[in-house]
This record gives sequence, C-alpha cells and structure tokens, in this order.
Amino acid sequence: MKDLKDWARALYPMHTYLITSKSTEETNIITVDWLTVISRKPGIVGVSIAPTRYSHRLIKESREFIVNVPSTTLLEEVYKCGVLSGRDCNKFESLGLERAPSRKLKTEIVKNCVAFLECRVIDSRAYGDHTLFVGEVVTSYATASFTRSYKPIFHIKGSMFSTTADTLTTL
Ligand SMILES: Cc1cc2nc3c(=O)[nH]c(=O)nc-3n(C[C@H](O)[C@H](O)[C@H](O)COP(=O)(O)O)c2cc1C
Repeated sequence: MKDLKDWARALYPMHTYLITSKSTEETNIITVDWLTVISRKPGIVGVSIAPTRYSHRLIKESREFIVNVPSTTLLEEVYKCGVLSGRDCNKFESLGLERAPSRKLKTEIVKNCVAFLECRVIDSRAYGDHTLFVGEVVTSYATASFTRSYKPIFHIKGSMFSTTADTLTTL
C-alpha cells in the first residue's frame, strides 16, 4: 500500500452545490463539496465551511443559508463562485446569475439552479480548519427541469468535473 498524499481525495468525486447567505445588504454565493444529510425527518443538513471564507461570517451572523442545487449548464459559474470571493465582488452581477427572494428566509436564491433547501442554523462547531454549520431544512422546492433534465455536477479534482452517465444501471 502507498500512503495517500491527501486523504480526502479518497472520498471524491463529490457532488457540488451553491450555498447562498446574506450580509445586512446583499446575498453572497459560495461553491461547496462538503455537504451532507444528517437527518431526513426533520430535515437536517451539515455544511463544512472554512473560517477564511466570506460566507463563513455571513452564515455565522445571519444564522441561515440556502442550498442551491445547480445543473451542469451552470458549471462555469459554479466553478467561478468557488474561486472568487464576495469580499471583492458581487458574484450575481459578475457572473450574470439571477437572484430571487426565498420563501422563508432573508437570503435570496440563485434562480438559475434547479432545487433549493432553505435552512436555519441550529448548531455550529469548529472542527480543525473548517466549521460545521448544521441547518434545519425549513422548506424545499424544485423547478420542473429538476425532474426533466437535471444533470448533477460531480467534482473530480481541481477544475475537473463530471456528471451522471446517460445510461444508468438499475439493479
Ligand atoms: C468545486 C469547489 C468546491 C468547494 N468546496 C468548498 C467547501 O466545501 N467548503 C469550503 O469552505 N470551501 C469550498 N470551496 C472554496 C470556496 O468556494 C472558495 O474559497 C470561495 O471563493 C469562497 O467564497 P466567499 O469568500 O465569497 O465565501 C470550494 C471550491 C470549489 C471550486
């Protein structure tokens, strides 16, 4: 056996999402891979965000975030949301993304996405170099294209991405 240079690579590919969060003025967008389901009923998810990210401060202060699920049509924008910071630019404007009010929170959604989970933070805790924000899903909804033509974004490594095969195996 060979030692792994980066142990986390063994867990890839990962499903990539956009998380929106709000400052007192505007909604920011961050790209994340490290998101997991914690409970189905009630719906609870966990997302791991480094304290160096602008989004970290916004989620900590507003105690809410939204999981926006992108399809591969948004791949370039999703990658760019993961390299630009909301400290330096407004990602909606810089990337031509459309915002819309959410149903229950102050944070807006990325309208170009296909499914949405609005979450209120019920717990947060620093683990190593990231903070795990635990959110209760207060409402969730999806567009018609989520059922018709959704292709998830899978992160392979660096700037390499993939999606589901056109023919899927059902056992
Ligand atoms: C595909 C991809 C996945 C990422 N996943 C995470 C993640 O799970 N957690 C995290 O803290 N940062 C993650 N990042 C890095 C942030 O998206 C990046 O630092 C971003 O610029 C932070 O934006 P902000 O400063 O506006 O919050 C990821 C970046 C990419 C490209």
